[in-house]
Amino acid sequence: MSKRKRELHLGLMFWAGGTHPSGWRHPSSHADAAFDIAFLQHVTQLAEKAKFDFLFLGDRLASDHRLQATNPSQMSRLEPFVSGASLAAATSHIGIVATANPTYYDPHNVARLFASLDHLSEGRASWNLVTGADEIAAANFSREAHWDTEKRYDWADEFVSVVKGLWDSDAVTPLDHKGRYFDVAGPLNIRRPPQGHPVILHAGTSDRSRELGARDADVIFAGQADIESAKAYYADIKARARKYGRDGDEIAILPGLTPIVAETTEEAVAIFDQLNAFIALDAEGDAGEAGRFGSLGRMGKRRNLAAVSEAIGVDVRDRDRDAAVDPQVLADANEPGRRLFADITRLTRRDVHGANRITYRDLIIGLTGIGAAVVGNAREVADHIELWFEERAADGFNIFPAYVPASVEAFTSLVVPELQRRGIYRTDYSGRSFRDHLGLAKPENSLARRAAAAE
Ligand SMILES: Cc1cc2nc3c(=O)[nH]c(=O)nc-3n(C[C@H](O)[C@H](O)[C@H](O)COP(=O)(O)O)c2cc1C
Repeated sequence: MSKRKRELHLGLMFWAGGTHPSGWRHPSSHADAAFDIAFLQHVTQLAEKAKFDFLFLGDRLASDHRLQATNPSQMSRLEPFVSGASLAAATSHIGIVATANPTYYDPHNVARLFASLDHLSEGRASWNLVTGADEIAAANFSREAHWDTEKRYDWADEFVSVVKGLWDSDAVTPLDHKGRYFDVAGPLNIRRPPQGHPVILHAGTSDRSRELGARDADVIFAGQADIESAKAYYADIKARARKYGRDGDEIAILPGLTPIVAETTEEAVAIFDQLNAFIALDAEGDAGEAGRFGSLGRMGKRRNLAAVSEAIGVDVRDRDRDAAVDPQVLADANEPGRRLFADITRLTRRDVHGANRITYRDLIIGLTGIGAAVVGNAREVADHIELWFEERAADGFNIFPAYVPASVEAFTSLVVPELQRRGIYRTDYSGRSFRDHLGLAKPENSLARRAAAAE
């Protein structure tokens, strides 16, 4: 990547019913999206037409009825390798990212699954290596408890080195791995993948996650919602990569971003408001944790004025939710509160003064809403993306489509051409494999090197 002009990378986070908590309720959404393979293929083709680097199939290993109220297409859905294979068959260039959580897998299976996906997609497979968000998954795998962070990452560290070794065994060279957790003879019964090693993507937040990402990942899916924390995360990962003898530019750091875009700013804000109007608020009472998921699967706060009061440091519990916010509330707000107001103004263009006022409902939605987002016309959305890219807060974005397929169509038809006009995003693929899109060479075969050194 360092050898060629720095270029933006885009992935599509594929939640078939949309990533916005009420995206699935948007009139244009498809009610049974998660099980309609023709629909999944169509959306993947839209991303490929816009020259996206990859389609991202996140995954969890448990069902949770609480997702019914926010993202039903996440509660019940297809398994990522099987759907990934069918999406690969319907496309020719876009990278296909499937999630496999080492905590509940065996390295031999993972190596074989990704090698197979890489062969049948002709070099487009990618492993989203996550150590698992779901405590409840343990109960599905004959475990008493979900392992703690240290154990999960100790296991994952050795796991990934075994998987890479098995890919390098090329169906002939024994691996003879004997480690703390795994004894694996090898070779793997499949030819070395076309990419050598399928692209490794990683997502997590802890110190151990950063180490694993800096050492082993080609792409990091990051969760920071504001530019300052994203810049700090970015600099930290690139510095850690150098510690492992890697060029920081070899790793693409892609935060999630929900773009709400339309021909005009006013239309985009209207779509944003329409989606948010479908979000069910909670009764007033205490501010405690709601029994539902927020962004990125974290448990959400209650959507009420008690939660807002706690967050901004001003008691607004007795206000009318649909009334304009008293400017004194902003004047009295703490620092996180002022940031919340600024973020709402950035997204809705409403303020505490003038004709277009922030309401208390806006504060509730803003607090518990949708994570990192940008709302506006093509130029405004492209400005946001370009700023993060130029400021080295991001090497690109994992695009969260708020409602599907219309928000994918809007982004690819309006924002992508604008990014291309600015010369920061490709107008065509320069190669066929996912590694080509990232500007990464095929890794050397470690077992072949070892054998050559022994001769
Ligand atoms: C941006 C992002 C995306 C994630 N995607 C998934 C996923 O698809 N499946 C999953 O099981 N966990 C996912 N996770 C959770 C991580 O696997 C991990 O369990 C969690 O972040 C806690 O580990 P940590 O302490 O290292 O962050 C994701 C985390 C982040 C930050």
